[in-house]
Amino acid sequence: MKASINGISISYRDQGQGIPVILIHAFPMNQAMWVGQVPALTRICRTITLDLRGFGESDVPPGPYWMSLMASDVRGLMAHLGIDRAVLLGLSMGGYVAMSFYRNFPDAVRGLVLADTRAAADNLQGRERRRASAEKAELYGTESIVDEMVQLLLSQNAIDTRHDVVNRVRAIALENQAQGLAAAQRGMADRSDSTEMLAGADCPALVIVGADDRLSPPEEARGWQERMPNSRLAIIPGAGHLSNIEQPDLFNQVVANFISTL
Ligand code: MLT
Repeated sequence: MKASINGISISYRDQGQGIPVILIHAFPMNQAMWVGQVPALTRICRTITLDLRGFGESDVPPGPYWMSLMASDVRGLMAHLGIDRAVLLGLSMGGYVAMSFYRNFPDAVRGLVLADTRAAADNLQGRERRRASAEKAELYGTESIVDEMVQLLLSQNAIDTRHDVVNRVRAIALENQAQGLAAAQRGMADRSDSTEMLAGADCPALVIVGADDRLSPPEEARGWQERMPNSRLAIIPGAGHLSNIEQPDLFNQVVANFISTL
């Protein structure tokens, strides 16, 4: 389905009934990364996925894509669907978007699931790395940044032994246009630090992290999760950064348990 939001076309899917849960994808992925979640979650809740601006089948307007802008697209999609409050489930960049959403529209959040993501902003070096990656994507195309990203998104075990998973992640990344990837990198480089904001957040929250996540490691996630008053931490064994793809059953189970408490 397509919705016209903030002047652009956003692609989304809306299935199931019950509490609305909006799944917000990682970088450089799109809503196809949730294929292992949708059938399981649709049995227990209304499950909505979307391609953020610049990704998948959504429009690719000029950037940068600030996290607050992508959060306002999510809010616009909720309005389009007649949803006042939803559970936001964001993985990595999707988590940054969910945090920005909570900062701007706390009353519209019924619960937060923050998976394989970081509360801190980037340091100077991290910002420089993103700007270089954005320029590389614009100059040489999506493919030029995908292989190094895929290495970081998956556990070493998946890279060595699960070629189906590696190929699937690579194929999803290659569906995205370079201009969108560059605009999102620039937006992420400028994102705010959410640590204090989350420490003051009183909505129910679940923090998920793959035990082998190299980009947002469990020790770091535990650091900010412990300060969130109404939160729990679930560490998914045998998974890297894309914990939902490497261990879909475990991931779905912890999400389902969380939703059942709301
Ligand atoms: C992601 O998976 O969304 C990215 O790794 C996020 C990031 O680059 O910080």
